[in-house]
Amino acid sequence: MSTKALSWQIRRANRSDLSALVQLEEQCFDYSQIGRRSFRYLIDSPSVHFYVCIADNQQLLGYYILLTRKNSVKWRLYSIAITPTNRGTGLGKILFEHALATARQGGAKQFTLEVKTDNSAAINLYRRYHFEVTDLLPDYYGRGTEGYRMCLTLEVQGDLESP
Ligand SMILES: CC(C)(COP(=O)(O)OP(=O)(O)OC[C@H]1O[C@@H](n2cnc3c(N)ncnc32)[C@H](O)[C@@H]1OP(=O)(O)O)[C@@H](O)C(=O)NCCC(=O)NCCS
Repeated sequence: MSTKALSWQIRRANRSDLSALVQLEEQCFDYSQIGRRSFRYLIDSPSVHFYVCIADNQQLLGYYILLTRKNSVKWRLYSIAITPTNRGTGLGKILFEHALATARQGGAKQFTLEVKTDNSAAINLYRRYHFEVTDLLPDYYGRGTEGYRMCLTLEVQGDLESP
């Protein structure tokens, strides 16, 4: 698949992605960065749904991580990011829709996430999919840095295609 001239695929993350993930994380976040060890743990955890978007030239374009517990209907977006040079081209929407499809297919009924209150790009993305702010989280990202918890109740759906 492609947006603009870029061709890419979405697949499960594996250990060969680690260095690129750490680099992407450093480019994307100056707070709550996920380190190499945590990425490795998340990749190796069977209950974690960790997907990457990879260009044809093998460049990492983005990733998302979903957490849930066995048989739980509650799913949580732990992180999502697109490399700075590839933002604004629709990849965020594509990855987020993939995450929603993954959760639906896994039986999710409630989808939650946390976001910094000043992260308007991400908040707009989530609102596009009808997420609503349910809580204000004081000091969530460190002293004096608030977050929102946002939630979506998922409709039960019939025949779903594989994400
Ligand atoms: C949030 C993020 C994943 C969006 O990725 P993206 O590829 O740029 O998003 P898209 O091009 O698919 O745009 C999706 C929607 O996001 C919103 N959006 C994206 N960039 C925006 C910006 N600069 N300002 C306001 N809204 C923006 C818009 O609603 C847009 O939909 P529209 O184009 O139909 O209006 C990306 O900005 C990112 O990686 N940010 C750094 C990491 C981060 O903050 N992750 C979220 C942690 S909670």
